[in-house]
Amino acid sequence: MLVLVTGGAGYIGSHTCVLLQEAGHEVLVFDNLSNSHPEVFNRITQISGQPVAFSEGDIRDKAALERVFNQFDIDAVIHFAGLKVVGESISEPLRYYQNNVEGSLNLFDVMAANGCKKLVFSSSANVYGDPDSFPIKEDFPLSTFNPYGQSKLMIENILKDVGRADPDWEISLLRYFNPVGAHPSGLIGEDPNGIPNNLMPYVAQVALGRLPQLNVFGGDYPTIDGTGVRDYIHVMDLADGHLKALSALNKKHGCEVYNLGTGKGYSVLQVVEAFAQASGRDIPYQIVDRRSGDIAISYADPTRSQEKLGWRAQSGLAQMVEDHWRWQSENPDGFE
Ligand code: NAD
Ligand code: WQD
Repeated sequence: MLVLVTGGAGYIGSHTCVLLQEAGHEVLVFDNLSNSHPEVFNRITQISGQPVAFSEGDIRDKAALERVFNQFDIDAVIHFAGLKVVGESISEPLRYYQNNVEGSLNLFDVMAANGCKKLVFSSSANVYGDPDSFPIKEDFPLSTFNPYGQSKLMIENILKDVGRADPDWEISLLRYFNPVGAHPSGLIGEDPNGIPNNLMPYVAQVALGRLPQLNVFGGDYPTIDGTGVRDYIHVMDLADGHLKALSALNKKHGCEVYNLGTGKGYSVLQVVEAFAQASGRDIPYQIVDRRSGDIAISYADPTRSQEKLGWRAQSGLAQMVEDHWRWQSENPDGFE
């Protein structure tokens, strides 16, 4: 199958490209490199032994998407391209809606015009807002407090309507929990710009000595140790979920939603301790005020993905932090 991977140069996309190639699919990456580095393609090739076809372009540029679909006979699309920083989305909502929603509309339009109606879309557990109970199931009420989450919810709703209007579409909406870790080779991994926003890359930079200490946002949540609890999922497990979702698409599929999480939550301090063990480094931290917009607890019920996709996360926290540390310590400057 020839799979167009939008955002395939990014963190989750690059790991998915490796698995797609290893499973015998042809991969064409479409990315504007706004949050990624072209060195990633050499690294993917080092791992898979296969070159990566790459078309540099922006999903907001419909003509560029049309050129790609005219040139290649694309069987399916995995759509990762998007902006993902919650705080940035609050200060720059128009950029987020334009990039994520308008860009996605262009993509779906061009897909439809070219009769390509198989799609796997990157959604987020952010669409659950602050749930009342746990674990979180796919049919929980949806609400979100920020433009990033809104953009994901809008795209989900658009795709549900598209699926209802035209039964030829086969769509999977994948709601990721907290992706972390890296390919076990240490050749690819997350390479955030500037100071990381997310916990694991921040902790990794503290372990490297690049940042003096971790600020733990909140020590008074109703959790095991007062710090926030999340469902961290290894990026390789996440990538595997995309392959399983792609194989599960068929004419009877319609538009289906799946949680991709492990089903197990860990607190910030449990992550810090696991990272200190894996790296053999001290992770100094101080507990500070809660971060605005954060929720206390989030973890998935992955039963539907297990039953319908035959997918189950394999890696535990120890593996996640070990692989994350290998990538970060062997590539302290990321792909630079
Ligand atoms: P990433 O930033 O590493 O990758 C996204 C890629 O998309 C980048 O290579 C970027 O250059 C590209 N891109 C952005 N806007 C584009 C545009 N207009 N046209 C073409 N390319 C564009 O992010 P990631 O962590 O790999 O996330 C991938 C997807 O998964 C995103 O849609 C994100 O919202 C979603 N997601 C991520 C997380 C997470 O915590 N990493 C969690 C849930 C959902
Ligand atoms: C995890 C925990 C923080 C940084 C975000 C998005 C979500 C999804 C994944 C895209 C929380 C605490 C963090 C730090 C800390 N992305 N923390 N100090 O907020 O669960 O989810 O990324 O879809 O939509 O909202 O992830 O890694 O930022 O935080 O104490 O310096 O670590 O308070 O409890 P989050 P995170």
